[in-house]
Amino acid sequence: MKARIIVIDDDAVACEFLHEVLQRDGYDVSSFTSAPAALKQNLADYDLLMSDIRMPGMDGLQLLSEIQRAWPNLPVILMTAYGSLETTMEAIRLGAWDYISKPFSPEDCRALVKKVLEVRELRKHRSSEPLEAAEEAKLIGSSPVMVEFYKQIARVADSQASVLIEGESGTGKELTARSLHSMSSRRQKPFVVVHCGAIPDNLLESELFGYEKGSFTGADHQHVGLIESAGGGTIFLDEITEMSTALQSKLLRFMQDGEVRRIGGHDVRHVAVRVVAAANKNIDEEVAAGRFRLDLLYRFIVRLLIPPLRERRSDVPLLIETMLKKLGYPDVRVSPEAMETLMGYDWPGNVRELENVLQQTLLLSPFVVILPENLPDRFRTRAAVRVQADLPAWTPLEEAEREQIVQALKKTDWNQSRAAEILGIDRKTLRTKIRRYGLQEEK
Ligand SMILES: Nc1ncnc2c1ncn2[C@@H]1O[C@H](COP(=O)(O)OP(=O)(O)OP(=O)(O)O)[C@@H](O)[C@H]1O
Ligand SMILES: [Mg+2]
Repeated sequence: MKARIIVIDDDAVACEFLHEVLQRDGYDVSSFTSAPAALKQNLADYDLLMSDIRMPGMDGLQLLSEIQRAWPNLPVILMTAYGSLETTMEAIRLGAWDYISKPFSPEDCRALVKKVLEVRELRKHRSSEPLEAAEEAKLIGSSPVMVEFYKQIARVADSQASVLIEGESGTGKELTARSLHSMSSRRQKPFVVVHCGAIPDNLLESELFGYEKGSFTGADHQHVGLIESAGGGTIFLDEITEMSTALQSKLLRFMQDGEVRRIGGHDVRHVAVRVVAAANKNIDEEVAAGRFRLDLLYRFIVRLLIPPLRERRSDVPLLIETMLKKLGYPDVRVSPEAMETLMGYDWPGNVRELENVLQQTLLLSPFVVILPENLPDRFRTRAAVRVQADLPAWTPLEEAEREQIVQALKKTDWNQSRAAEILGIDRKTLRTKIRRYGLQEEK
């Protein structure tokens, strides 16, 4: 039996595209350009529903709730060009089976449909406990890699599983840890941050586990450790690779049995705390070098890897827009050329570096429009702007411009007014550029 798939997208072209891709794969497809039209069908006859999120009238999330009510067993895949942590969370919370960001390739779509139809048989029970959206902590970005990352966060947020977050410096590890906490049912409980790299090891031990009065010189009163004080909530161990291996084994013992004994104390206390840790060093290399205990690594059930900014350059404009608002400059714009420069940069310091560049630029050149010459020095040398690794073909701007002009002139048989019109520039500018590039009509 052919699997039956129903497709809903208010964009008729996108709808038709998906219809054809799936039909070619041998599915029985019906498509609709509005949610109410689809709801008139007997959805019990279908094996899978794929819907756009943003649609006039009834949107994809409303449709999803409707389906959850009437056909709770129908798998739903939501699609959107506006991926964010909130919509992803909302979609997954409402019971969407999966979520794909547009634009996607036929291959991505095929793989996803196949996977969902396969796990359909395996899926029996789903948790329906609602989660409130995060208040303060917000990860920004709607690139496919970030949406994938949100899905992982959404799936592990409310479990007890300890999580190790890996990523280069400034990629948002702490923000991710906060999101994990605020998206979990522990959100009313403490979120305690420990910067392992910033505290000397012996002090770190007494900070984490606490001590009894008189347990060492200077311990003139009893001290509750950070683990205990995070009770019921989350303890975030930042830069966990900076912990000595001796302290790592103490942590390991705690993670195994959930018990804490204060230094110099006899009582053992049971503490329910979720452990989230971050590392900006390559943890496998640290293990290989004997600096990180393998058994401790295995206590982390989930490992989340945050992609560096250069692997999600399409998030740069959205990050900038949000940061400008946050910094109190909602009306400042970035010129297309400056944006191009920023998107082409490699961002070794990731999102934090981007934040820093914006702050510096606004401070030194407080203009309404940010131009390339307003950016810090390192953006002005050509070498600093590395080739965009995630774009298949990259042509230097001038070359691209020259090519566009040649095409426009050819198309119009060298009618300069019409060519200028096509290119959206005036005739004088076109003439200057023709001269600059030394273009001549081929006879
Ligand atoms: N995806 C994101 N969306 C919005 N802001 C972000 C994002 N990622 C990082 N930031 C911002 O960038 C800065 C650095 O983030 P964060 O401190 O979470 O990074 P980190 O990975 O812990 O860095 P480090 O390795 O240096 O400790 C923060 O101001 C944070 O708000
Ligand atoms: Mg950090």
